[in-house]
Amino acid sequence: MLEKIQILLSEVEQFSCSNAEELEKFRIEYLGKKGKITALFADFKNVPNEQKKEFGQKINLLKNTASDKVEALKQSLSASRKVSVGNDLSLPGEAQNLGSRHPISLVRNEISEIFKRIGFNISEGPEIEDDWHVFSALNFPEEHPARDMQDTFFIEKNPDVLLRTHTSSVQVRVMDYEKPPIRTLSPGRVFRNEAISARAHCIFHQIEGLYIDKEVSFADLKQTLLYFAKEFFGEKSEIRLRPSYFPFTEPSAEVDVSCSLCGGKGCNVCKYTGWLEILGCGMVDPNVLESSGIDSKVYSGFAFGMGIERIAMLKYGIKDLRLFFENDKRFLEQFSEL
Ligand code: PHE
Repeated sequence: MLEKIQILLSEVEQFSCSNAEELEKFRIEYLGKKGKITALFADFKNVPNEQKKEFGQKINLLKNTASDKVEALKQSLSASRKVSVGNDLSLPGEAQNLGSRHPISLVRNEISEIFKRIGFNISEGPEIEDDWHVFSALNFPEEHPARDMQDTFFIEKNPDVLLRTHTSSVQVRVMDYEKPPIRTLSPGRVFRNEAISARAHCIFHQIEGLYIDKEVSFADLKQTLLYFAKEFFGEKSEIRLRPSYFPFTEPSAEVDVSCSLCGGKGCNVCKYTGWLEILGCGMVDPNVLESSGIDSKVYSGFAFGMGIERIAMLKYGIKDLRLFFENDKRFLEQFSEL
């Protein structure tokens, strides 16, 4: 009988299999109710008493070896199944959806880069402002309609607290803590109480520039804007200035760029005029310089401001401004880094 145990032990030790069915067959053959090892236990009663101890130990060893084997093979079979799935290089990979930059950010960054190249820095300020920075310091008369509840979002309890209607407020802050020469660009969100439509929104983005130094002239302003138009809309672009009015600049102008789609010949985007309105600008009013403590007899400057949505609509041919705020992935995915 000892010999039989020895044979079974070496059979168990040598056993290997490649699938779960073979393993189960092995388990039943050796460890099942009618299995070979179970039968040995039944024979145990016939072993003479003085040999019982030795036999008992051997049979137990055999049984433990067999159940360890079954367990080990079970583990390695399930592990190898996982590995084989992982190694199937023909399986389609898991798609990693990469985000894309919002078109407003793309255009803001491009405009910022263009002005950084000629020495402008970027300045930011609060969206929740006070009357002084948004209106009074910028020479808005008391009765100016922009101060009206219809245009500006005020805080009911305190009319001195409001959401900025333009980023010119940031430039007032820059003039307060910096000495000329100043060359700064202020991009940011602005708020106006307007009905939401394809052409207007109560939240939009602006980018405004300010340049103050000795002997800054209107010619500097024109040349700076022409440089911007050529960089942004293409080398062939031209600009034209039309007289306008802003409380904080004198003289003031609206700037049109030649339509880059039709080259100035006229199309439905430029409404057959050949020109697209892109920004407002002017020479900083001496009152504005003085309210920030800058001597208007020594320094002069120009300022300009544009709506980023408008520029983005022209650049990408977008017809409805609301698309910028809806966060529809199908819209946003169409824009890639410039
Ligand atoms: N702040 C003006 C606006 O919001 C734009 C502007 C800026 C015009 C600077 C002239 C000079 O419409």
